[in-house]
Amino acid sequence: MITQQHDVIVLGAGLAGLRAAVEIARKNSEADIAVVSKVQLMRAHSVCAEGGTAAVMQPENGDSIELHAWDTVRGADFLCDQDVAMRFVTEIPGEINLLEHWGIPWSRRPDGRINQRPFGGHSFDRATFAADKTGFFEMQTLYDTLQKHANVVRYDECYVHAILIKDNVFRGVIVWNLTSGECFVLRGKALIIATGGACRMYGFTTYSLTATGDGMAMAYRAGLPLKDLEFIQFHPTGLVPSGILITEAARGEGGYLFNSQGERFMEKYAASKMELAPRDIISRAEMTEIENGRGYIEESGLDYVHLDLRHLGADKINERLPLIREVAMRFDFIDPIFTPIPVRPAAHYTMGGIHTDIDGATPVTGIWAAGEAACVSLHGANRLGSNSTAECLVWGKITGQKAAQYVKAQKAYADLPSESVINDAEASIFKRFTSFGAESSYVLKNELLKTMDTKAGVFRTATELEAALKTIRDIKQRLPLVKVMDHGHIYNTDLLNALETDNLIELSEVVVSGALARQESRGAHARRDFKTRDDANWLKHTLAYRTADGPRLEYMPVTITMWNPVERKY
Ligand code: FUM
Repeated sequence: MITQQHDVIVLGAGLAGLRAAVEIARKNSEADIAVVSKVQLMRAHSVCAEGGTAAVMQPENGDSIELHAWDTVRGADFLCDQDVAMRFVTEIPGEINLLEHWGIPWSRRPDGRINQRPFGGHSFDRATFAADKTGFFEMQTLYDTLQKHANVVRYDECYVHAILIKDNVFRGVIVWNLTSGECFVLRGKALIIATGGACRMYGFTTYSLTATGDGMAMAYRAGLPLKDLEFIQFHPTGLVPSGILITEAARGEGGYLFNSQGERFMEKYAASKMELAPRDIISRAEMTEIENGRGYIEESGLDYVHLDLRHLGADKINERLPLIREVAMRFDFIDPIFTPIPVRPAAHYTMGGIHTDIDGATPVTGIWAAGEAACVSLHGANRLGSNSTAECLVWGKITGQKAAQYVKAQKAYADLPSESVINDAEASIFKRFTSFGAESSYVLKNELLKTMDTKAGVFRTATELEAALKTIRDIKQRLPLVKVMDHGHIYNTDLLNALETDNLIELSEVVVSGALARQESRGAHARRDFKTRDDANWLKHTLAYRTADGPRLEYMPVTITMWNPVERKY
């Protein structure tokens, strides 16, 4: 098989990946950098980030980095590592200013300073924004900045199938170029995995179709542990019926949530924060209203509540929320200036991911992870809105710096594993061409999505989770029988769907196993059969290791440096 080589391989070209690549190029102009992406560069899911990026930019108003850290820790239901939270809040203001210098069109206050809007669970206005297209402008700015560096090679529309590790040291990855059909080994000294999250295992989700947790799954298959994957964030305002994100900024700008009886129901659940309570609390409130018959009925079963923006007026909606208006008009044929928007909780974010330390380093020498693919233990059991794009920037930078330093010290490339290992990895991409089975990956994937939607959602019980695990394991057994009808090597979306389904099944087994084991309610993990948080037994991170029989779960302590857990009230 052909081999190409680069000092650092950045897997994923979303916010974390691009920020990492820029940092490596800035820190080490000698480093030869590859950016590998399954999609064309500006199609990474990060472009869908809407509402903002949290940072303390107005200390003169009483905000402080300690307060941002405290909000993050409390929002996380105390499962966040507090040294990580402090590092995050300290570094993110610099990133906002750096993007400003690189040309991002941040929305402004009347006096010309960078504007910020309120977001749920934050004590101050911290979401720095560019209308409601923040992710798009951040991506565009990083992409433009990357163009200035000559030492970056892009591999767009390339699917990475396997990570090559020997003696616990990174060696390379196996790549299938979707547009040429070729397979090749990309040999490297360092790898940064920044491939995003895995919520495409749910049917009703804010995710792009392409965000299928590939990096997490391949890391897990290569022996790296996944951490806290049972914590899935449900965003309170997924547009019904498509699931497209209606940004939290709509509530930050003053939008109200109403049930079918015309009540602003958040008064019953978080009177002090109302529509700006943390997402786990609002999602549970919405589902409680819907389950108790106070939602609006939708034929498909996706009953909903109303997000009402009408009182904001046309000028504010057009200036601050133009994308939301466009999305509501194009996908639901309603204009939010005149009509409330139908919304319900949608799978939005994987708080867990590839286990890393505070520097984004994984247990394998030469491999880092950043952004949603990673679990650096910042978000714990529930992430605060606008802390995610912020995390991508901070740990994109940190992992970029670490990888840049590391490759400077590595004079030679480490040996690749044996040819047979590499050939087996390549063969495993195309094995479905010769499958004797008759299963369809599309059918299996739909079974998975339905199972996750109905049995591992906002509220969970042992009975439902056990049923979900049984279905997932049944699907897993049928996966080798998937027949791929298209035998071409070039842009074979049939085969790609089969590989992505493998990844989603692998990860959903970890989500459900971790959720079943965790007999408490904490943050986004709400068990009807264990209704309270149990710090005595469960103030700990879950680590999942892959075995032939499913994930082996281990646990590790949470780092508490400043605040002991207290009851979480809003
Ligand atoms: O609602 C939003 O704009 C999403 C932001 C986030 O997930 O941080």
